[in-house]
Amino acid sequence: MLQLRALNRRALRRLERESPFPPPWQSMARLEALGDAWLERLRDARRGEARLAGGLAAPVEALDRALRTDTVELLDRPDVDPARKLHMVRTLARQNRLLRSHARFLATVAPHVRAIHEREGRPARLLELASGAGEFSLACAAHAARQGLPVEVTGSDIVPEYVAAANERARRQAIPARFLTLNAFDLSELPAGAFDVVFISQSLHHFSGGQLAMMMAQARRVATTAFVGVDGRRGLALVGLVPVLAAVVGGPVLVHDATVSARKFYAEAELELLARIALPDAAVTVRSSHPGFSVLDARWG
Ligand SMILES: C[S@@+](CC[C@H](N)C(=O)[O-])C[C@H]1O[C@@H](n2cnc3c(N)ncnc32)[C@H](O)[C@@H]1O
Repeated sequence: MLQLRALNRRALRRLERESPFPPPWQSMARLEALGDAWLERLRDARRGEARLAGGLAAPVEALDRALRTDTVELLDRPDVDPARKLHMVRTLARQNRLLRSHARFLATVAPHVRAIHEREGRPARLLELASGAGEFSLACAAHAARQGLPVEVTGSDIVPEYVAAANERARRQAIPARFLTLNAFDLSELPAGAFDVVFISQSLHHFSGGQLAMMMAQARRVATTAFVGVDGRRGLALVGLVPVLAAVVGGPVLVHDATVSARKFYAEAELELLARIALPDAAVTVRSSHPGFSVLDARWG
């Protein structure tokens, strides 16, 4: 919704004017605290901007705020059977295939991949975080093998069952991708510079502001060039549309998580705020991408 986007932008500019920005940090614990606190500050500033703007701004902002939820998606609940979760992420993968989302996701990383190949004379090394069933990494690696896109793909997720299933599929279908079990906001076991680009799709809203800031800062250490995140675009319309789409395309299994997710999507100014705190030396852009995605691109290499 345009009005909310404008309010978010104004709120971000207000924070920049009123305090030294980005705030410095020295440790992951401090960065996590800053990410959470500044996200709240941005939301408070947006409320103030809505009051100043008058008209429908305040009720629209209040509705957006009321829709926010801390409900945990079934996918993230430890009490939900991993086999049921695997079925859910596979259903999500089917939905992505039907909507041709993977081609859109690939378009967000392909310019980095080509630039790295040109610069370094070797394939770019892509790490996908929270890759679920591994569908994007597999599609990307298969496309790379067919079309000569110079990229080596590693997928990862915190759920070992997804990782095992994705590795098994890569082996069965002879797709050159590998999968690791990783917590997306604790990449300490990976060597510095082991990858070039860190990518994450449709998962940013599964993490708190502080966790996202830690994820980006750790991407800065393990990757030479960029962090790219794609997620649902925050907007009142999508809160209604996303669950309907999930029901029609994916079936009832996804409706709960789709409803919760659409209420948790981050506004683009929120993603920009977190990236600029976590990655003070990066060039950060956040843009909307048809039909209902936000794309965060932070480049330092
Ligand atoms: C909505 S799914 C998205 C899956 C896939 N990226 C896609 O686009 O289909 C969210 C994923 O985030 C993963 N996840 C949640 N918390 C995580 C964490 N701390 N570290 C890594 N993955 C995590 C879940 O296991 C799940 O696979």
